[in-house]
Amino acid sequence: MKERKVSILFVCLGNICRSPAAEGAFQQLLESQGLQNKFEIDSCGTSQYHIGSLPDPRTREVAKRRGIILKHKARQLKDSDFDSFDFIMAMDQKNLEDILQRISSPEQRSKVSLFANFANEKKDHKQEVPDPYYGTLQDFESVQDLVEKSAKGLLEFLKTEGYISVVS
Ligand code: 4NP
Repeated sequence: MKERKVSILFVCLGNICRSPAAEGAFQQLLESQGLQNKFEIDSCGTSQYHIGSLPDPRTREVAKRRGIILKHKARQLKDSDFDSFDFIMAMDQKNLEDILQRISSPEQRSKVSLFANFANEKKDHKQEVPDPYYGTLQDFESVQDLVEKSAKGLLEFLKTEGYISVVS
């Protein structure tokens, strides 16, 4: 029997700060549990501002301190992503709104969540990963803390709900 991979797309505005940090944190978590082969993950931005760029140097520095080397090159969200991925994780409410404006079916809608809602058990459905771009290095550290916590919550959710080891 062939195992179907779970695919997750992390989305922010520029794809140089929060979503590559989220992708890197989730990848590190998967590797720590030997689960990397069960997933396809990627990140992108709603804007075209930084297409082709590596993550912001501050994002890379903070990730590197946690043992995560970020090599992603920024790309823009495309309509086919809504069919290609099983889960689409928006970093903030504006990203979420921009995504929802472009989706075309209830099935696509059901894939989209605010990533940081997975950071806490209450799941208040309003938790955002704040944009650190015009902030301090401490803001980038806080983003890293939050995406790591959210990654753990998301993986727990996927395990609990039986998404891992699903056969097709
Ligand atoms: P990101 O952060 O959406 O987390 O990648 C930003 C990156 C760039 C800009 C804004 C936010 N910008 O305005 O260029």
